This record gives sequence, C-alpha cells and structure tokens, in this order.
Amino acid sequence: MNTIVPAIAPSFAINRLSSILAAEVIGLDLRKPLDRPTQEAVYQAFLQYQLLVFRGQALGKEQQIAFTGQFGTLEKHMPCNQGSDLSLLHVVSNLDERGVPTGVLGSTRWHSDKSFRAAPSMATVLHAVQLPPEGGDTCFANMYRAWETLPVAIRAELEGVRVVHSWALSRDNAGKIISEAERLDAPPMSHPLARPHPDTGRRALFVGAHASHLEGLPLAPGRARIEALETHATHPSNVYQHRWAPGDVIMWDNRCLLHRALPNFDAAAHARVLHRTCLRGTPTSE
Ligand code: OGA
Ligand code: MN
Repeated sequence: MNTIVPAIAPSFAINRLSSILAAEVIGLDLRKPLDRPTQEAVYQAFLQYQLLVFRGQALGKEQQIAFTGQFGTLEKHMPCNQGSDLSLLHVVSNLDERGVPTGVLGSTRWHSDKSFRAAPSMATVLHAVQLPPEGGDTCFANMYRAWETLPVAIRAELEGVRVVHSWALSRDNAGKIISEAERLDAPPMSHPLARPHPDTGRRALFVGAHASHLEGLPLAPGRARIEALETHATHPSNVYQHRWAPGDVIMWDNRCLLHRALPNFDAAAHARVLHRTCLRGTPTSE
C-alpha cells in the first residue's frame, strides 16, 4: 500500500509501509533541528503508525543524540554495552574490537526495551551504519492489535492481570550469567499485562523476553500463558519486517510494539552496525 498522503504539517509527507504498523516520513533532513510544529506532527505520526522510517539520513553520533532528544529524555545505555564513547549512544554491532564479524547477533528474541524497569523505554532510534549485503532485518509486532484481536472472553479474563518482567530471569533463559550488582540493580517489576498507552489510551499486550510470570498465578501456568500470548502476538499477520537500507533511521514506540533482530544473514561473515539512542518512558499505570 504505497499511498502517499500529506501529513498535518506541510514540511513532510507520510508513506504507509504496511497495514500492521510503520510509515516512512519523507522530506526531512534529521541533521537539522525540527521546528515545533514539525516535531509535534512527527510525534503524532509516531503515535499513529508506531514506527517511523526516515530514509537516506547521514547522522553523526551527536546529531543522532540531538535528533532523539527533541522527543524526550535520552536514556544512558547499560554499563555492559560496549562500543561507544558517548554514554547516550549505544553501538549495536556484531564486530569484535578489531572489526571482525563475531557470528554473534544480539536481541533476536521478541522484547520491548527495558520492560523490566519501573519506567520502561518509550522509544528507540536505530540508524544503519553498516549493513550486510542482504538480511539483518528487524521485526516488529503490533501489541495494540495483539490485545485487540484476542477473543473477548480471554480479554475479560486477563483484564487487571499483572505481569512481572525480570532482567535476571531473561538473562538466565538466554543462558547468560549476570553479576550480583546487575541483579540488584534490576529487581523484578510488575506491570499491567494489558498496558494502557500513556498518550493514546489504547491497551497494548505487554509481554516479550523479559516477561517472567503472571502475578497471583503459579509459575508454570503463568509462563505457559505468556508464551501462548506471545505466539499470538508475533504471528506473521501481526508483524512488520524492516529491510534496512543504507541511511535508514527508524524510531519506534516500545509502549505498543515488540521487536527483534532477525538472524537472516551470516553474522560470522558480514558486518552489521547500527547506532542506537533511546528515550526514557514513564512508569506503567493502571
Ligand atoms: C535494540 C534492538 C534489534 C536489531 O537495539 O534495542 O533490539 O535489529 N535491536 O538490532
Ligand atoms: Mn531492543
């Protein structure tokens, strides 16, 4: 569906990329500050399409930090994330210190950034720096639709249920060992399973790799339920797959999407480097 419709502000146009989520924003140079009405219109489009793609950009690290900062407060990356000299910009990379591909691709499980925090990330911005010849896509699932397409009876059952997201548990599941300091820094966090979006008021299913169990339910059935919900939510009919092009900047709403890196390229042979900035969210509410 390639219908180009004029946006509210005359300074850019919107090209919807799929009926699930995602739209291209055409006509903006992100190296320059956006005026207030344009910022506001971009934010409205972000709420409407959940993910925005800005093609053909060439942002330096400071420029990406400045662009992101127009929409909120930047988050510092975790101390374990190496590769960047700027604490507000994290380099997502499959390369070792010598620039050789390691074969390791991170973030391949469905998740929402920092969902284990009291105030999970609001938005994440990724800028393509080095891409493999093909593949290395990022997938996004629409959690509004995931909630809204559940049978009414299931929704009624899940109304008011709380889900615990835990960094320690998701690391354990990934076979990784974390330090005691990290464990203490990220205690298990309880959130509404049908999370109201602070700006739109729509509910979004809040699951993903960090979701551990349901409050008040024995562990095993709670986990089984979470897994079934995630299977429903990430069905291909609810997913937008982003094929990266050089210069792409994408910005997505973590409050209503899950995402993951798709290991559809040879990560031992090709470089894949993205620059990442993140905006702080607000505590989830019910
Ligand atoms: C992230 C992330 C996915 C990717 O940066 O938060 O999950 O495709 N990235 O690299
Ligand atoms: Mn992520």
